[in-house]
Amino acid sequence: MEQELRKKNIGVFFGSGSPEHDVSIITAQLIISGLKKLNYQVTPIYITKQGRWMLGEELGSLKLFSDPGAKVEQEKRFYEYYLDLEESFGKMVFRRKGLMSRTISVDLAFPAFHGSYGEDGTIQGLFEMFGIPYVGCDVPSSAIAMDKALTKQMYQVHNIPTTKFIYFFKQDWERDRQSIINQIKNDLRWPVFVKPVHLGSSIGIAKVKDQDLKDLEFRLEVALHYDNKVLVEEGVENLMDVTCCIIGNSETGLKASLLQESVFSSDLFDFEEKYLKEGGAQLGKAQNGLVIPARLNDQVTEEIQETAKQVYKILGCSGIARVDFLFDKQAQKFFSNEVNPLPGTLYNHLWKASGVELDQLLQELVKLAEEKYKQKRSVNFTFESNILKQLNSQKLNSKKLQ
Ligand SMILES: Nc1ncnc2c1ncn2[C@@H]1O[C@H](COP(=O)(O)OP(=O)(O)O)[C@@H](O)[C@H]1O
Ligand SMILES: [Mg+2]
Repeated sequence: MEQELRKKNIGVFFGSGSPEHDVSIITAQLIISGLKKLNYQVTPIYITKQGRWMLGEELGSLKLFSDPGAKVEQEKRFYEYYLDLEESFGKMVFRRKGLMSRTISVDLAFPAFHGSYGEDGTIQGLFEMFGIPYVGCDVPSSAIAMDKALTKQMYQVHNIPTTKFIYFFKQDWERDRQSIINQIKNDLRWPVFVKPVHLGSSIGIAKVKDQDLKDLEFRLEVALHYDNKVLVEEGVENLMDVTCCIIGNSETGLKASLLQESVFSSDLFDFEEKYLKEGGAQLGKAQNGLVIPARLNDQVTEEIQETAKQVYKILGCSGIARVDFLFDKQAQKFFSNEVNPLPGTLYNHLWKASGVELDQLLQELVKLAEEKYKQKRSVNFTFESNILKQLNSQKLNSKKLQ
């Protein structure tokens, strides 16, 4: 299978209109260089913030993105391609117009997006429609994971511990904000956390303390500025942020990583701590900010790893995902928080610490994509129906009677 896979051209898709656009570029570069080292054929496919599709070998280097003099946009006549709908099935065929016309065919997709427009099931839907294998979670699991309220509802149904919460839509707020505030006051214990449900990287998230209703209202407005659906949940005291990565397809077995503990100084694990301080904890670089394995006893560690696998299965994840937990150190209780279907840099630092090197991780992910694709194609989704024939013959009969 590995020999066969090496003949295929892997498209690494990244960028797009998400707030986590820049992090996606970093993840993609790591994947592209890693796959090349493994002798795979790779085409970097960068979607600009405006939605243009750019293809080219050079897009596999960070230089083009960090050097302001060599912006991809300025060279768009060179990099811009369009998707040929006529030719694309079982592969995605891209063409460049003009004098330098060229065709690139992609056989397997490796999405490297974070957040909306890519990690949320949207691009996965495109891969499904064009019938090509792709790495990672499918449409429904990605879409559920990208909605923090839907994820928590799935936990509730399956008795997975999670913090108590409420959620509402923008139109609910505009219609009757007082009843939402009352519900938070009456149903939840303070402090509470306010979160736009679809965003990541702690954008728009705030902790509201001590029944401070003025601050609460302000934070809800801020969250609604970012999203049309907002979650409010009880805060976990004596917090330890714990993360577990899972790799595998549920049908053929899952592997859990070691647990990671993220240490940070502010009220929450925010954007700065995640990506900027000391090179970024979420990118696996801020060594001071990470403790691997997390300082938890064996029993709790095992319970969290098992719960992470359970969450992965319940959501229907495949390939890879990261499951995050909030742990109350005093009460020794954990709560399932969110799921990231495409963790930044694939969380390769945690896999490395768990004994899986980047090349093994990439190879495994490509193999899992192919396995999932074959398994899906073995299920018969076609259904022969006689409805149209019947309708036609009914029409003919009624005509005859006239
Ligand atoms: N209920 C909570 N109690 C305590 N801390 C929380 C709670 N929810 C979130 N946090 C803190 O905020 C951080 C970001 O929240 P999270 O739900 O993980 O959103 P994001 O998608 O932005 O990572 C968490 O890592 C944690 O430090
Ligand atoms: Mg998080």
